[in-house]
Amino acid sequence: MHIDKLEIKWATVSLLIAGLFVSVILASAFMHGVHAPSNVEPIDSARLHLSAEFAEDKLGAQQNPDGSVTVRMVAGRYGFYPNTVTLPAETEITFRWVSLDVLHGVHIPMTNMSTMIVPGYVAQIKTSLHHPGDYPLLCNEYCGMGHAHMWSNIKVVSQEQWQTLNHKGESNHE
Ligand code: CUA
Repeated sequence: MHIDKLEIKWATVSLLIAGLFVSVILASAFMHGVHAPSNVEPIDSARLHLSAEFAEDKLGAQQNPDGSVTVRMVAGRYGFYPNTVTLPAETEITFRWVSLDVLHGVHIPMTNMSTMIVPGYVAQIKTSLHHPGDYPLLCNEYCGMGHAHMWSNIKVVSQEQWQTLNHKGESNHE
């Protein structure tokens, strides 16, 4: 089969351009700690209140034996529950999200905590928040008339402060 020289040249150029784009995407994904959607864990969105994990009294932050923290939250039109969660800085945090109605997105600006919350599935993100302070938690997936008002608050405190809060037996969900 004969392939024209010019054709080979152009094919090479276009492959190089495609390769460049792929490497730019991969480099920025690794640099920003982007999470590819990968957690396929079904859950019955209509019966969250009856589930072992996402019943109302199980929501919020919980410290695991290894010191890491798991946060369970429910997204529903138009809010995230619990409304405020206090978390320790510089700690491995696993967020587990479920939706009780429609598709939502959740996002903490300037961090890599960003995921879609698809009804019927648990969305899971591992991250760590470096600086104490108040972080907004925003919905970034249009979910209805109240979408723009769907936001909550994450309060990040130092590890010492968090331990004191925990040992006083104060609940982390308000
Ligand atoms: Cu929830 Cu937009």
